[in-house]
Amino acid sequence: MCGIVAYIGKKEAYPILVKGLKRLEYRGYDSAGVALLNGSLNVHKKEGKVKDLEDFVVNLNTSGNMGIGHTRWATHGVPCDRNAHPHTSNSGNLAIIHNGIIENYAAIKEELSQRGYSFTSDTDTEVMLNLIEDIQQEEKCVIEEAVRIALNEVIGAYAIVLIDKREPNKLIAARKGSPLVIGIGKEEFYVASDASPIIEYTNNVVYLNDEELAILNRDGGLEIKTLGNISKSPYIQKLEMDLEKIEKGGYEHFMLKEIFEQPQVIQDCMRGRMNADQGWIKLGGVNEFSNRINNAKRIIITACGTSWHSGLIGEYLIEELARVPVEVEYASEFRYRNPIVTEKDVILAISQSGETADTLAAIQFAKERQALIYGICNVIGSSIARESHAGSYTHAGPEIGVASTKAFSVQVTILTLMALQLAQSKGTISQSRLRQILFELEQVPEKVKQALALDNVIKEIAVKYHQAKNFLYLGRGLSFPIALEGALKLKEISYIHAEGYPAAEMKHGPIALIDENMPVVFIATNKSAHEKIVSNIQEVKARKGKVIAIVLPGDTTIKKLADDVIEIPETDELLSPLVSIVPLQLLSYHIALLRGCNVDQPRNLAKSVTVE
Ligand code: G6P
Repeated sequence: MCGIVAYIGKKEAYPILVKGLKRLEYRGYDSAGVALLNGSLNVHKKEGKVKDLEDFVVNLNTSGNMGIGHTRWATHGVPCDRNAHPHTSNSGNLAIIHNGIIENYAAIKEELSQRGYSFTSDTDTEVMLNLIEDIQQEEKCVIEEAVRIALNEVIGAYAIVLIDKREPNKLIAARKGSPLVIGIGKEEFYVASDASPIIEYTNNVVYLNDEELAILNRDGGLEIKTLGNISKSPYIQKLEMDLEKIEKGGYEHFMLKEIFEQPQVIQDCMRGRMNADQGWIKLGGVNEFSNRINNAKRIIITACGTSWHSGLIGEYLIEELARVPVEVEYASEFRYRNPIVTEKDVILAISQSGETADTLAAIQFAKERQALIYGICNVIGSSIARESHAGSYTHAGPEIGVASTKAFSVQVTILTLMALQLAQSKGTISQSRLRQILFELEQVPEKVKQALALDNVIKEIAVKYHQAKNFLYLGRGLSFPIALEGALKLKEISYIHAEGYPAAEMKHGPIALIDENMPVVFIATNKSAHEKIVSNIQEVKARKGKVIAIVLPGDTTIKKLADDVIEIPETDELLSPLVSIVPLQLLSYHIALLRGCNVDQPRNLAKSVTVE
């Protein structure tokens, strides 16, 4: 989704803005722009990539030590130069960048039009800006006051940064529902949608809260007030992000780097949270609310996309080990279907970014109904993490590739630990079985490494099938969510139509699609369902489908039947998703590469979906 970068200080702003926008490219966007103040207000914007903007401004004036920059992901109006941000007000005095959606923009636009305002773009942002201008002129107030009044009138979500040409010593920023971080340097400020553009300049940051407005003064003064006009003292936090970790580190793509980081991040995620020898698990957040969590009548897992898939694995694990009923809900459906939620429920909200609008709204809904909210987030200090009563960070480091990989693995790791801790507290698992699983869990990073070593085998399979038009992914039990995730990875980055199904459901529809052109990926790593999976493979082969099977060592039966096999190391069946997902991530990566797709920034997708 849209990326925001802004600067006020003594340095030249343009290089900081462009570098920052490049760091935010992973969020997904279709146009980019900057506005710089240097006596005059110069706005440059271009459809396409940040590189296109750079080429465009070569001979233009980009000087100024204050500026705002933006990458846009279209919501209102097609991607084009005209709709790109920053937008300027009718007088030309104000410029704004915005992430989010203003829902009542049409009514405001109508009113402003009647009062003589004209609009050059199709965006809701330009409408909001002219509302601010109108209020400023009517009320004859300072710009921050006009912004505050306007934000009380708009409905929707936003993170904004605004320049007033007549006020060259201050930047105004505000947020509601879309993240905004302020970096504090020496008599300078940085503002961005997340910390990645800021980290190389300063470790001191303030996360703006919903309905807060910040005035960043050139002399180093930072004022924060609520939209209700109450002053707040800035809470300065130390960033613990590593610059190296947000760069590619020798890999061709972020996605590949992140796939290969999985052994390490799973290890990091488990560190200090378990001990197989002594047979204990300690998830801080669970301990803090152990009473409510242990006595929950049911657990509702809510999430979107890949995080929803890890939620499905969580359901299987928690029900199997701790015998607590679990429901897994798409956050977007949950929040709108008037679900029954009470104070006896525990909600697990899973989100890599911690900013997904639907997930955030779902937990706000459940919170109002007194449920306990437990966040499983990767981004520290993110909105979902802060809205939750308790939670566990997944500690995977920044995930830049739009298609989520390592974040999935650590979410599954946390859910495994949670299921085990719950089972231990409730007495639904024996100490010896618990220790057995924990021992196996300790071996998982090594097994993931072995699965990664199959990269070349998988590349060859990708060469064979990269021109296919459709793919089917099938699995049973814990391999079913992996089938869904494998299919999602493929469609996200290679644009091949792919579907994941429970293997037995194939007979009820998808089997009609099978012919000699249909590759079917079987995740056949659960021994308990082996015979049944073999029958499903036979059914595909009988219809001339091509079978790619992920198998365990020694599986001669499936090896004989399948066209291609990928043999991965065996682990405890309950932990098998952590290993079996790896070849599917690599398969998608290589197929996408062979098809010439932009792996890290697939078309139309955004990393952090901050609109509904
Ligand atoms: C977007 C991303 C997906 C991600 C989903 C949920 O659609 O492209 O990769 O799984 O959002 O994101 P979250 O940050 O909440 O896990």
